[in-house]
Amino acid sequence: MAKRVLVKYSGEALAGESGFGIESKILDYLASEIKTLVENKIEVGIVIGGGNFVRGVSASKGGLIRRTSGDHMGMLATVINGVAMQEALEYYGIDVRVQSALEIKEVCESYINRRAIRHLEKGRVVIFVAGTGNPFFTTDTAATLRAIEIEAEMIIKATKVDGVYDKDPAKFSDAVMLEKISYEQALQDNIKVMDDTSIALAKDNSLPIVVCNMLREGNLLKVIQGDSCAVCSKVFN
Ligand code: GTP
Repeated sequence: MAKRVLVKYSGEALAGESGFGIESKILDYLASEIKTLVENKIEVGIVIGGGNFVRGVSASKGGLIRRTSGDHMGMLATVINGVAMQEALEYYGIDVRVQSALEIKEVCESYINRRAIRHLEKGRVVIFVAGTGNPFFTTDTAATLRAIEIEAEMIIKATKVDGVYDKDPAKFSDAVMLEKISYEQALQDNIKVMDDTSIALAKDNSLPIVVCNMLREGNLLKVIQGDSCAVCSKVFN
């Protein structure tokens, strides 16, 4: 069983049907799933995207907003999501610290690797916000980077599908889920598990990527425990 993991949610995961903002019911559910991990003595880092508020690329599409500014806006959106998740986890009695790649000390701590590890060792969940602090890097890349930095044993990409498929399951009814896939295959076949930068970073550092469905209750714990009933796809060497 993995002892320390990093869970990556997309910002849209927090939104309801409108695809915008934060829906309390979903936030509550995600927090309760994380609580189960903490109760099982798993050290948890979390990264949440910001797409439920702003996506850097989309914001800059019209040409009015530069990509760099669009990405800054996106980074701030991840702070909103991180602070919301902190509140939800605290509601469940879990100790949480939010650490930001951008300095916003009135809102949360700044990212300090050694301090983050200390928090994790004390059983606190650490939510990493503001991406890597740099434009042109996705939150998937930020999550992979933080996972490597905190020496997590895996990065779990929590999605709305069960895993990685050979083709888009929304378009093809005969799409087959791949339980195991190599980094090379993920890159070569252009399987969009995560963006290429994240996959390359994970590959270079032998960090396994696990894709699983966050909506399957209890699945996250099973994935981490290596339970044979866990539903997920693994990308590794
Ligand atoms: P220990 O040193 O292990 O006791 O960790 P700790 O995080 O409990 O101690 P600390 O006194 O550093 O933090 C107490 C609270 O203040 C925690 O909720 C932190 O998240 C928060 N905190 C610490 N540094 C900052 C900061 O720079 N900005 C903000 N907004 N909060 C901070």
